[in-house]
Order: sequence, then structure tokens, then C-alpha cells
Amino acid sequence: MSDFLNLSDVHVRFGGLAALSGVSFSMKQGEVVAVIGPNGAGKTSLFNAITGYIGISSGEISFCGERISGLPAHVIARKGIRRTFQNGGLFGDLSVLENVLTGLHTETPSTLLGTLFGSSRANAHEREAVGKARELLATMNVSGLADQPAGGLSGGQQRMVEVLRAIASDPPLLLLDEPAVGLAPPVRIQLRETIHKLARDHGLGVLLIEHAMEMVMGVSDRIVVLNYGKKIADGSPEEVRQNREVLEAYLGHA
Ligand SMILES: Nc1ncnc2c1ncn2[C@@H]1O[C@H](COP(=O)(O)OP(=O)(O)OP(=O)(O)O)[C@@H](O)[C@H]1O
Ligand SMILES: [Mg+2]
Repeated sequence: MSDFLNLSDVHVRFGGLAALSGVSFSMKQGEVVAVIGPNGAGKTSLFNAITGYIGISSGEISFCGERISGLPAHVIARKGIRRTFQNGGLFGDLSVLENVLTGLHTETPSTLLGTLFGSSRANAHEREAVGKARELLATMNVSGLADQPAGGLSGGQQRMVEVLRAIASDPPLLLLDEPAVGLAPPVRIQLRETIHKLARDHGLGVLLIEHAMEMVMGVSDRIVVLNYGKKIADGSPEEVRQNREVLEAYLGHA
């Protein structure tokens, strides 16, 4: 059992459907863990449970030694668990820069600071946040998009901006739900390298749902496999690649 993220016998039900049945696993700080499995296996439900977007019906989820299951989503986000969404979650009318800034705003509550200390300190915080957001855009070579409305970007560019927004506040744990969908191959490689770098240099823990196998195999320390809401494998990429039950789950759905 790890003190970083720990799931113990987690069940999630939607009416009569068991989306997760007794899922247990843990991850260490700085570890990159992929969650794979056929469509409907419960991967997104797992993310929703960890981030508090849905309640669990039994079991326990803890983060840094503290129980988080049962807490509201915004409280869990403030504890340093950030995510992206499978179907996008950008504010289409806001610019790319403003979207990335929303990822920083729990750290720099400028209106509150403005009320308390007058606007000069608030402005300094705001400038710092804008500087940080611009820096992030530059690391992914998308500075040119800063002032464009996010709704007008291509699907791949939107994915990238979502990831940048999620990592903007340097969270200890990042959950990425199929971030490579719609990305051109060179951008996928860039994303893979960014994930590597964040884990290695900043100790960021990453939980990654991904169907693109070259992405999963290239970036993960470990792979957790779900099928019909149950964990059927948990091991190194090499172990999982050779696991009979995993092969059958995929062939059965093919
Ligand atoms: N809010 C919900 N209400 C009812 N059923 C749901 C809800 N969310 C998910 N489900 C069901 O729970 C099961 C698991 O869904 P989930 O979205 O977690 O799968 P997934 O592994 O992310 O699939 P995909 O690869 O297609 O994204 C599916 O049968 C799905 O229809
Ligand atoms: Mg999903």
C-alpha cells in the first residue's frame, strides 16, 4: 500500500450496472500508470470516482494518507489532483491563455486578494499567473494560439490546451483521459515526452487512460487493466503484454 494514491475495494454502481467492482491498486509519487481496457470497462468511471465527480458505493480512496472518497470534486482538485476530460472541457468562448489561467486560479485568487490587500498585489499575482501560462504554451510550441478562442481550435490543439491547463498549478497527481485522441503523430511524441519529463523532473504522478498502445507502452512504468469493471491485470508493460486474460479481453471485444 502506498501513501500517495490508494484505492481499496472500490465499487461504483449506476442503478443495476456495476461500473467498478472491487478495484484496488496504489501508485507512488512520480509514477506513470496507464489504465487500459475495452470500451465500457470502467476507466472513466475510475477517474470520476478518484476526482469526486461521482460517488463510490463502497470501498475507500485515499491520497497522501488522507481519505478523499466522499469529498466534493473542488476540494479534491485543491488537494492537488487535476484531470482532463475524455470529451473535452475547455471554455470555448475564452482564449487559450484564459483557459490555461483557469487552471491556475485556485492558486491565485486575485479577486479575493484584491479585496483584502488592494489591487496592486492582486495585479502582481495576475501578472505572475499570465507569465506562467505563457511559459507553458511556449513549452508545447503553441504560443501563437494564446489569444485565439479555444472553441476555434482543432481537436488535437484543444487536447493539448486541456493538458496544459491541468498541469498549470504543478499538481502532484494528474489524470489524463485519452489525451492522445486526435493528436497528429509528432504532437503525440511531444506529449509523451512532456509526460516523461514532468514525472522525472518534477515528481508528477500520472494516471493515464489511453487506447494508443505505442503511447501506453512508451510512457508507463506500470499498466492496470480493467474489464467489465474488474481489475484483471496490474504489472509492467512487458508483463501485461504477455498476460493471457488481457489478450482474451481485447480479442473478445475485437
Ligand atoms: N453516469 C452514468 N450513468 C449510467 N451509466 C454510466 C454512467 N457513466 C458510465 N456508465 C456506464 O458504466 C460503464 C463504464 O463506463 P466508462 O465510461 O467508465 O467506461 P470506459 O472504460 O471509460 O469506456 P470508453 O473506453 O468507451 O471511454 C459503461 O457500461 C457505461 O455505460
Ligand atoms: Mg472512457
